[in-house]
Amino acid sequence: WGTDGHFTICRIAQSRLSDVAADAVKELLPASADDDLASLCSWADRVKFRYHWSSPLHFLNTPDDLCTYQYTRDCKDEDGVKGRCVAGAINNYTSQLLTYGSSQADYNLTEALLFLSHLMGDVHQPLHVGFTTDKGGNTIDVKWYNRKTVLHHVWDTNIIETAEEQFYDSNVDDMIDAIEKNITTEWADQVPKWEICGGNKTACPDIYASEGIKAACDWSYKGVREDSVLEDDYFLSRLPIITFRLAQGGVRLAATLNRIFG
Ligand code: ADE
Ligand code: ZN
Ligand code: ZN
Repeated sequence: WGTDGHFTICRIAQSRLSDVAADAVKELLPASADDDLASLCSWADRVKFRYHWSSPLHFLNTPDDLCTYQYTRDCKDEDGVKGRCVAGAINNYTSQLLTYGSSQADYNLTEALLFLSHLMGDVHQPLHVGFTTDKGGNTIDVKWYNRKTVLHHVWDTNIIETAEEQFYDSNVDDMIDAIEKNITTEWADQVPKWEICGGNKTACPDIYASEGIKAACDWSYKGVREDSVLEDDYFLSRLPIITFRLAQGGVRLAATLNRIFG
């Protein structure tokens, strides 16, 4: 996601934290964040160049046209190093944060919190769990209305920004309010299922990645070819998927942090 997608997910998540988790998050955030997790939700994108090792942790790619995800097959970087993908990173930063409050905290748990909060968002972007050959739509040139872009960027940014302009007076807070209202009304009955992780697991990125590649096949890639012109039809039919994934990302980030610190 771009900055507004990540901001939305972290803002939704922070409002759903238990008291214990909210206190831990406040203690781990740097003073500059002023207790606002959303303000640092895109930090992991800004450090990709400083922390070169971290760029493969934002996504994973699956075999072209299979529309399935398997951790052991797909969670690797471009050199084939196992576990270096968004699902592996979510598991890793969750394990690090579980040492919070114990004496042997060897990790930088502030960075672990910022990575986990960001990557929980990215795993909910369908094209961050896309096909290998097109790099999650990064090599598919399209037009978004009149502008040249790539399919991946349409899903990271363009659909969200167009929705803000057309429906929310360019105000991201109003879009967040609308998504939060949906969480407590339309989607209220399914929200407990989103939160479930199962067994004694703390984080469930494999569930989210499997949903992601299905959504990428059914919605992101569907009907799109090189040089497609994407406009109202695509915008209006895909926006509900995006708001749904932003909502799930926020609810699940909160549920995961509540399990970690609870
Ligand atoms: N680079 C390569 N594949 C990618 C993907 N699916 N998402 C983001 N960046 C990528
Ligand atoms: Zn992206
Ligand atoms: Zn990212």
